[in-house]
Amino acid sequence: MEEKAYKIAVIPGDGTGPEVIREGIKVLEAVGRKFNIKFNFTFFDWGGERYLKTGETIPEGGIEELKKHDAIYLGAIGHPQVKPGILEKEILLRIRFELDQYINLRPVKLYPGVWTPIKDKGPEDIDFVVVRENTEGLYAGGGGFLRKGTPYEVAIQESINTRYGVERCIRFAFEYCRKRNKKKKVTLVGKTNVLTYAWDLWYRVFEEVGKEYPDIEKDYAHVDAVCMWFIKNPEWFDVIVTDNMFGDIITDLGAIIQGGMGIAAGGNINPNGVSMFEPIGGSAPKYTGKNVINPLAAICAGMMMLEWLGEESSAKAIEKAVIKVCRDHLKSLSAGKMGYTTSEVGDLVAKYVEEGVEL
Ligand code: IPM
Ligand code: MN
Repeated sequence: MEEKAYKIAVIPGDGTGPEVIREGIKVLEAVGRKFNIKFNFTFFDWGGERYLKTGETIPEGGIEELKKHDAIYLGAIGHPQVKPGILEKEILLRIRFELDQYINLRPVKLYPGVWTPIKDKGPEDIDFVVVRENTEGLYAGGGGFLRKGTPYEVAIQESINTRYGVERCIRFAFEYCRKRNKKKKVTLVGKTNVLTYAWDLWYRVFEEVGKEYPDIEKDYAHVDAVCMWFIKNPEWFDVIVTDNMFGDIITDLGAIIQGGMGIAAGGNINPNGVSMFEPIGGSAPKYTGKNVINPLAAICAGMMMLEWLGEESSAKAIEKAVIKVCRDHLKSLSAGKMGYTTSEVGDLVAKYVEEGVEL
């Protein structure tokens, strides 16, 4: 069999980012041996440390370099000595925007044996995906100050919603739902009762595009109500589509019901370009360098990357290994409480990938 090869740009980033990415790469290398895939990793040292030393976030030509890869694998961005907003905007959001990764895909799936704070709900109830718009809304950077620093100061933060951006996001959600082939239901999550410009547009486009998908059930829910239903009736959901800000908020809620930041992963997707995969938990400065952080979220981000590259069977092999590690080994998914170190968890997943476990 001919060996396949992928060029992966790796941005380990700040805090525990490098530790979890190391384990993710360990697992990808195991996949490579088992499934005859070659990964060529190029490392980029972008993040807080580099910024503090050089004042530079993404160096000149950096985005162009990323474009030469098949995918990007990112650890975490955020440094306690750097004012919040700088690294996030100049690295993470800049990559999302400039590579037009217009979807932020966040699966919320509870694996067997993983603790969820929701009483009486299990893996059969918690299995949905949030499709978050990733380049517009409140994140687009529209707005400004008037009379800054005076008692009459005005701060304006605008939500930008384009017909084009909304339509491609909603279309992605329907297509994804069809391909996923589970409950065949897309729920638009918004705020039509108050934000009557943005959500009027979203609702109209949802109805219009939805007509092209007669096989898929359509539903609408207000974002505040969804926060209750994620807890009370998570089994109602299959694919959720929403804007950037609401998507940011509800996916943290989603992460906690699937077992927390130790396992939650996401993909920043440009279906026609270069996509980026990351654990969604952040840089966790207090655990840095201690070998106690859970690498499963980064490992699951690697799994999503393989899925997106079309390597479905190797992605499945990672998922089975992760499920086995959660079910048969870890005492908890939280940092420092796993009963294993970061590198031991990576070793276990890599071992089960190579052995090819059946559950
Ligand atoms: C996320 C994060 C980012 C976001 C931050 C770090 C800019 O919270 O990926 O959800 O708000 O999108
Ligand atoms: Mn977030």
